[in-house]
Amino acid sequence: MCGIVGVVGNKRAKEIVLTGLHKLEYRGYDSAGIMLSENAEFTVKKTPGRVAELEKEVVGIDGFSTGIGHTRWATHGEPKEENAHPHLSKSGRFGLVHNGVIENFSELKEKYLTDVTLAGETDSEVIVEVVDYFSRKGLDTMSAFTSMLKEVKGSYALALIDIEDDSRLFLAKHKSPLLIGLGEDFNLVGSDAMAMINETNQFVEIMDKERIVLTANTMTIYNENNEEVVRDAYTAEIDASDTEKGLYPHYMSKEIDEQPAVMRNLIQEYLTTEGASKIPTNIISDMIESDRIYIVGCGTSWHAGLVGKKMLEELTGIPVEVHLASEMGYDMPLLSKNPYFIFLTQSGETADSRQVLVKVNELGLPSLTITNVKGSTLSREATHTLLLHAGPEIAVASTKAYTSQIAVMLLLGKALGEEKNRKVAKELDLIHELSIVAGVMETLIDDKDVYDRLTREYLETTRNAFYIGRGLDYAVSLEGALKLKEISYIQAEGFAAGELKHGTIALIEEGTPVIGLISNEVTSAHTRGNIIEVESRGAKAMVIALEGLDKPGDDIVLPHVHSLLTPLVMAIPLQFIAYYASLHRDLDVDKPRNLAKSVTVE
Ligand code: G6P
Repeated sequence: MCGIVGVVGNKRAKEIVLTGLHKLEYRGYDSAGIMLSENAEFTVKKTPGRVAELEKEVVGIDGFSTGIGHTRWATHGEPKEENAHPHLSKSGRFGLVHNGVIENFSELKEKYLTDVTLAGETDSEVIVEVVDYFSRKGLDTMSAFTSMLKEVKGSYALALIDIEDDSRLFLAKHKSPLLIGLGEDFNLVGSDAMAMINETNQFVEIMDKERIVLTANTMTIYNENNEEVVRDAYTAEIDASDTEKGLYPHYMSKEIDEQPAVMRNLIQEYLTTEGASKIPTNIISDMIESDRIYIVGCGTSWHAGLVGKKMLEELTGIPVEVHLASEMGYDMPLLSKNPYFIFLTQSGETADSRQVLVKVNELGLPSLTITNVKGSTLSREATHTLLLHAGPEIAVASTKAYTSQIAVMLLLGKALGEEKNRKVAKELDLIHELSIVAGVMETLIDDKDVYDRLTREYLETTRNAFYIGRGLDYAVSLEGALKLKEISYIQAEGFAAGELKHGTIALIEEGTPVIGLISNEVTSAHTRGNIIEVESRGAKAMVIALEGLDKPGDDIVLPHVHSLLTPLVMAIPLQFIAYYASLHRDLDVDKPRNLAKSVTVE
């Protein structure tokens, strides 16, 4: 949610910042801006819309060696040039980019800026003016920056340029991600490693409440108590090519196709060749003590949690509750005696989920974050982490992270269930079953033309659609519907198939598309019955059934997989249906309107 990138000491500053902003667009793409500076000469360009628009504005501007850039997901103020970052203070001395939310910006405005007319409505503009205020009072830049930070309540990742000394960047972070990249005779800063990976693979973490002065050759980190902190760099495991689309038209299509490889990767990461679990034993020993597991997540991760609940309960015998992070943060349910928390978050940065983790830590309870991003905030702050090993996921609509989250919970459930001596866990051969899943995923991925055709047939002109299923299929139907709404803007609902008749069936009209999911033997006849009910009221029903439960006329038949693993394969046609629906409507598949991939505001 908003992306920041900066560089100091490199004549290619403009190119480095623009490349970084392209990589950060997944965090927001309402507007973009850049500030370039050298020897007190500077330029600021901002524009509503995408980074590609900004690029046009800076053609021919070259030769600067310090730069900061920003891509925005609007919180305060609509996406227009005045609200875009970098914000330049009225005196023209300071430029600032910000990611996060300053909660007390109105108070700060009243306290310090009664004589300043602001250009826009953002909280970020206020804080650059507060730095300017302290500077005009005679403080040096670091002291002015620190004084501003002492006044601020909320979350921030900040990069500040002082025109009068533009060989330094002033940085700070609290609850929003920020990372330093080390170059040769130049240094970088960014919201994530991907933004800098074309320039370096050496990174230094920044902790909350730290401030940094960054020059071409030095990095001075100060903690809250103003003490200097020494921290080593680490080598990032990602490769610049991991963040490229290659020959794919969209990141989403690439990421859908990568799912079989991710499944095979997880087998290697979490199982020995003999099938023994490689999940750290301290995670299992913590969990085995628990009498109830609480899964917390948002959006797609919450949907993965619904699937994970059924898997974990079956394999471990421990009751599992699944909670929406945005609700749980302020409405904690009565907890069991020995609760164990699992945070599902692809990015590891989601503010709603972190809000719950902060409370869990205050209560001194054990937790596990399952995330795709090593070193992310929720990974650092939870007791334990398991990685998704899915490679960077860039399309806003999550695909491979969803199936990877499910597979990791399956691997965790098996390890825990085995430790508890559960027969069902011992008998589940996950090397075998996940390999079958990977193969079936490949077969399904080869059928792209089928999904393309079915999407035209069922969803070409519709304004709404329903996904129905029971049990695990219900959990997957929620995700199928979310994928469709996110990127095609078709109003879609996932529904428990049996519940439709208790109200929602009133919405079924002639031609309403209903996508029926059938993968469970016990409930398949009932779901078929529900499909007939909607068809009798005019619905156009597309049926996706597991082999063995299929009937003549079904639209998609999924090759057989283990009954607990069906969501992993059912997800594939649903992801493609959303993809083609977006494509057929000529929409931006990877960057849907109003959304961002990493949501760092509550
Ligand atoms: C945003 C994204 C969703 C994602 C959710 C949770 O809303 O648009 O695609 O599912 O955040 O993200 P997380 O990184 O916590 O999994």
